[in-house]
Amino acid sequence: MTDSRASITKRRLLVTGGAGFIGANFVRYWREQHSAEPVIVLDALTYAGNRANLDGLEGPECRFVHGSINDTELVEGLLRDEAINTIVHFAAESHVDRSIEGPDVFIEANILGTLSLLKAARKVWMLEPEADGSPALAHHFHHVSTDEVFGSLATDDPAFTERTAYAPNSPYSASKAASDHLVRAWHHTYGLAVTTSNCSNNYGPYHFPEKLVPLMILNVLHGVALPIYGDGMNVRDWLYVEDHARGIERVLDDGQLGETYNIGGCNEWANIDIVKLICATLDERFADDPALATRFPKSPAASGRSAESLMTFVSDRAGHDFRYAINANRIETELGFSPAVTFEDGVQRTIDWYLNNETWWKAVMDGSYCKT
Ligand code: NAD
Ligand code: DAU
Repeated sequence: MTDSRASITKRRLLVTGGAGFIGANFVRYWREQHSAEPVIVLDALTYAGNRANLDGLEGPECRFVHGSINDTELVEGLLRDEAINTIVHFAAESHVDRSIEGPDVFIEANILGTLSLLKAARKVWMLEPEADGSPALAHHFHHVSTDEVFGSLATDDPAFTERTAYAPNSPYSASKAASDHLVRAWHHTYGLAVTTSNCSNNYGPYHFPEKLVPLMILNVLHGVALPIYGDGMNVRDWLYVEDHARGIERVLDDGQLGETYNIGGCNEWANIDIVKLICATLDERFADDPALATRFPKSPAASGRSAESLMTFVSDRAGHDFRYAINANRIETELGFSPAVTFEDGVQRTIDWYLNNETWWKAVMDGSYCKT
């Protein structure tokens, strides 16, 4: 079943997981670009959720609700009371290493949480109006997913397209794949107006420092070992987080209902090269700004060594996917989207953000960040 965009005159958004890394960057972008279209953020504030990620945004047109997507009645109430007609669904457990250690919470949040949202959306947007003899409310459910659902590529394999068969390899990617299938089924079976995007690795501000890029930046500043899994040759396709927000905006504006869109940076890097790039960039920052050596005396550059001296090869991740790469032709040709931020610029911006936002990451690292 394929239709064009639902005819929503003024969008009122429910952004799930809007206090996490990508969700918060999306809300920031959305409020700048669409100030007349209000946002409700629904976030359970797990370890990865941080209300401070929304600092400066909250107000009558951007309200925060502390709660879980698994609470179907809460979601139904928000859809009715706030006249929500658009859901942008980011909420998830997102870290592969955690899914290997403890998969259950991934099933709960990513699969059952998505099921709960879909049931609430269908009930309020479709079943309740139908019971009154009215047509379904104009609506749009956008599901944010990942390239990891497609599995792992060898060096010379072509990049993932929207038609690549699903082959998830980790508990995380299996839970995301299941959620994608549920979203597809709610469209095909019940006619819910959905779109899905599958994006590659994001980086940028507010990235929780368990993921590769922020972990490496902060470990360099603290003079702590940089753990590189296996031989460091695994490849990821990196996209600046604001470009992901722009890609989702294009799908919300003009995406075909029932369809999926790959979003990526066409920007493949071996992990070890990313780590070396971060090291070199931080070495330059320290050389340019002597105050950094006073602020971060344990960083190698403070005593004239290169940050690369911290690189340490450690045991590989279990089931570590070798390579991800996105073919983003569809979103480029059909919706006119391509990334605006080059990787060089994005890395500089990201490193500057971490250097300039020590209060944010200190609170995150000592666990005192905003949980209510
Ligand atoms: P994140 O871990 O930084 O944030 C997830 C947010 O979801 C947190 O704020 C958390 O509190 C919230 N959350 C978790 N369970 C919840 C629940 N039951 N109810 C309400 N809120 C809940 O994740 P992220 O990196 O921002 O990823 C966001 C989405 O984008 C995820 O769906 C992820 O699969 C997808 N994605 C991430 C990347 C990436 O590179 N990080 C790439 C492609 C797709
Ligand atoms: O591809 C999209 C996915 O990207 C998202 O769906 C996930 O939510 C997101 O977490 C990310 O998954 P990755 O596993 O690719 O990201 P991570 O930052 O954990 O790891 C990136 C690569 O770096 C991966 O090959 C593992 C490696 N790595 C990671 C860490 C944390 C290391 O070598 N050392 C590390 O300490």
